Amino acid sequence: MHSQLLLTLTVSFLSTTVKSGAVDLQPRLDNGLGRTPALGWNSWNAFQCNGGSASAAMTAANQLVNLGLKPLGYVYVNIDDCWSSKQRNSAGQLVPDPSKWPSGIQATINQIHGMGLKFGLYGDAGTMTCAGWPGSKGHETQDAALLSSWGVDYWKYDNCYTQCNGQVPQTCWIARDTKSWYTTFSNALKAQSHPILYSMCSWGLDSVWTWGNAVGNSWRMSGDIQNNWGSVSSIAHTAAGISQYSQPGGFNDLDMLQIGNGGLSEAEERAHFGLWAIAKSPIIIGTNLANIKTSSLNILKNSAIIAINQDSLGKAAKYFTPSGQSGPGNSLYPYWAGPLSDGVVVGIVASNGALNYNVNFASVPGLGSGTYNWKELYSGKTGSGTSISGSLSTHDMAVYKITTGTAVTTGGSGETPTVSTIVPTTTSGNTGGGGGTVAQWGQCGGSGWTGGTKCVSGFTCTYNNAYYSQCV
Ligand code: GLA
Repeated sequence: MHSQLLLTLTVSFLSTTVKSGAVDLQPRLDNGLGRTPALGWNSWNAFQCNGGSASAAMTAANQLVNLGLKPLGYVYVNIDDCWSSKQRNSAGQLVPDPSKWPSGIQATINQIHGMGLKFGLYGDAGTMTCAGWPGSKGHETQDAALLSSWGVDYWKYDNCYTQCNGQVPQTCWIARDTKSWYTTFSNALKAQSHPILYSMCSWGLDSVWTWGNAVGNSWRMSGDIQNNWGSVSSIAHTAAGISQYSQPGGFNDLDMLQIGNGGLSEAEERAHFGLWAIAKSPIIIGTNLANIKTSSLNILKNSAIIAINQDSLGKAAKYFTPSGQSGPGNSLYPYWAGPLSDGVVVGIVASNGALNYNVNFASVPGLGSGTYNWKELYSGKTGSGTSISGSLSTHDMAVYKITTGTAVTTGGSGETPTVSTIVPTTTSGNTGGGGGTVAQWGQCGGSGWTGGTKCVSGFTCTYNNAYYSQCV
């Protein structure tokens, strides 16, 4: 083949979404960051402009440590809008407002790093931030270099006062080339020595999820979250439809949490947290941790649900329809499922009032008929069976981890063997390894195969280095 033609084909292959079976492979921002969703705290929802200061940052940093949130993975202390002076200096640099950062911003960042935490800042692609502070338009390279020199670890980049059909209103909801200015800052960050997670805050405009992976580590997929259930449920409903775009290195960002801010019932706070976790959103606490209620703090500290969010597979859950139920409509639907590296997560949310549920594993994507071990991660209840059932009060949520790897299945003769006693009697036809279908008690990959495989519904084998080589 002529080299020019080969080059052309290669370039078009790389720049196009690649279909591989049911999975869309998309180009990723290759900065090695955000392999799992970010966990941390942000100043905006609780403090708005008053949170753009050293004291807000240090207070939150100490609270993450003292409340035991840091060991659970909440490491980002993110300062939002209003942290800089209203004018750049004579060299065109952003200047931390000296009244808010009396010892300079560098001292605060050093202290936060010294606590084993990371530090995030906020900026804007337009002429001004949403609250009217200097934006980065025309200063992208200079600003990225400044962030890197300070050791900023996370950059939330907003979309206010950007071009809108030749004008620059504060917010502009019509379609325009948002991607171009998000790419400009992405390239500026890539040129820096300090690794900076790139959090794009473009409010879901221009279907950012279709190109966000190549440009940033996360992207807001909605307008600003409000402190009420209607907002939480509508963001989650939108996220269910774009779950396939979240993968390690690039995640749909459902926005900073409202947990602890008083607008949600305890049940709604459980659902908010559970939905954000299974949708693989960054989980950025947005409350004043000095006043947080024990019930809210306990929700944020649910390590089993955090582990679902941080699962290495990085695949977001989406709706599924249990047999006998009508399917999703145009508002939040109760039934969610998604793959994990070691099982399946099933989320059930009482979106339309109190809910009695009974879900057979046969209708859950990634499971199928059979007996599985399950654990409900808010109550801690465990069990084993072919289905899960329970009742939820209005807007409450149950999050089940279903463990496929340790599934206990009733064999043909009625016994209930454990994985270690199974003797494979059937092998997949694929002797060199690979995918295939085997009968119950079959061994994936063919006789003698010892490589990694994963057993999925219908006793189908797929490769996965961390899994069993037998399908039971
Ligand atoms: C926008 C963003 C919010 C917050 C504010 C700050 O509205 O979407 O998350 O950063 O700006 O002004």
